[in-house]
Amino acid sequence: MKKELKIGIVGATGAVGQELLRLLLRREFPFSELRLLASARSAGKEVTEGGRTWTIREAAPEAFAGLDVAIFSAGASVSRELAPAVVERGCVVIDNSSAFRMDAGVPLVIPEINGKEAFNHKGIIANPNCSTAIALMGLFPLHRQFGLKRVIASTYQAVSGSGAEAIAELDAQVRAYVEGKESKPEVYPYPIAFNLLPHVDAFTDSGYTKEELKLLYESRKIMNLPTLKASATCVRVPVFRAHSIAITAQFEHVVDLDQAKKAIRLFPGCDLMDDPEKLSYPMPLDFAGKINCGVGRMRVDFALDNALSFWVVGDQLWKGAALNALQIAELLAERDAEN
Ligand SMILES: NC(=O)c1ccc[n+]([C@@H]2O[C@H](COP(=O)([O-])OP(=O)(O)OC[C@H]3O[C@@H](n4cnc5c(N)ncnc54)[C@H](OP(=O)(O)O)[C@@H]3O)[C@@H](O)[C@H]2O)c1
Repeated sequence: MKKELKIGIVGATGAVGQELLRLLLRREFPFSELRLLASARSAGKEVTEGGRTWTIREAAPEAFAGLDVAIFSAGASVSRELAPAVVERGCVVIDNSSAFRMDAGVPLVIPEINGKEAFNHKGIIANPNCSTAIALMGLFPLHRQFGLKRVIASTYQAVSGSGAEAIAELDAQVRAYVEGKESKPEVYPYPIAFNLLPHVDAFTDSGYTKEELKLLYESRKIMNLPTLKASATCVRVPVFRAHSIAITAQFEHVVDLDQAKKAIRLFPGCDLMDDPEKLSYPMPLDFAGKINCGVGRMRVDFALDNALSFWVVGDQLWKGAALNALQIAELLAERDAEN
C-alpha cells in the first residue's frame, strides 16, 4: 500500500517534465493531487496526458502550498532560487538539476544502489547526472562483486540530454541537410547532425568539462567510494534519445567474466544483452523508452590488470532523470504509507 501524495512537477513543459508526467500515470503513482508548474511563459497553457488535462501554473513559492513532494526539472538556477522556499513550506524537493548534488546533507540517490539514503534528507534529495546514473547501473553490480578501483569512460550522449530545444535542433538540421538547405546551430556551438561534439557542459581549468567531473564526484558519493579514480570523455552524438557509455573498470580482485555477467543479469534495472555471435548488444534505439539499462560487449580488458571493458545504454530522460526521480518519490510514498 502506498500513501496518496500531493505532488508537483516543476519544468512540466520540458523534455524531462513531460516524461515525468507520462511515467507518473503509467506507473500509477499514488497521488491525490498533481500540479504542473513551469515558467511564467507557460502559465495558463493546458497539458493533456492519459485523457486528463492540467493547466500549467507559474512556479512561484505560493504555488507549492500544501504539496508533499515536488520534482524539479527546470535547471540549476531555478532549483537554487526556488527549492529552499518550497522546503520551508513543508514540501520535499526531488531535484533533477546539479544544484545540490554535492552538498553535504543532500542525499544523491539511485534507488537500486543507495535507496536508503533517500530517507536521510533535510528537505532536498538530489537525482544524479544522467551519464553517471546510467554508468553506475552497470558499474555498481560489478563493484559489489570485485571491488571497484578505477574507471575510464567515454560517453555517447543523446541530444535530448540538452532539453527540448536540442531535440528540435537535430531534427531541423537533418531535414535541412536532406533538403540541401542551411540550418544554423543555436543550442550547440557547431552542427550536431552528422557530427560529434567532444564537449558536454562547460570546460573547467582542469581541461575536463563539468559533465566529465560529475562522473567522478557523483560516483564517489553514490557508491560511497571516496578514493575512486575516474576519468571520462563526454561526447554529444546525433542520437535523439538514450545515452551510451563505453567503460573500462579496474577492480581490487581478479575478475571472472561469467561472474560479472551473472552480477549484471541479477541486478534490478539491468538487462544483460551480450551475445556477439548473434550480434546482440544494447543500442540507443532499443533502450529509448525502456525502464531498464542494457549492458553488453563485456570482456576482460587487455590493457589493465583485474579489469573489464563493457558498454552500457540507458534512456537518460528516464533512468537519467524522470524515472529515477519518480522511483525516489515512490520510496517516500511507500515509507509514508507504512507509518
Ligand atoms: N534532459 C535530460 O536528459 C536530463 C537528464 C538529467 C537531468 N536533467 C536536468 O533536468 C532539468 C530540465 O532539463 P530538460 O532537458 O527537461 O530541459 P528543457 O526541455 O529545456 O525544459 C526546461 C523546463 O524548465 C522550465 N523553466 C525554465 N525556466 C523556468 C523558471 N524560471 N521557472 C520555472 N520553470 C522554468 C521550462 O518551462 P517553460 O516551458 O515555461 O520555459 C521547461 O519546462 C535540467 O536541470 C537538466 O540539467 C535533464
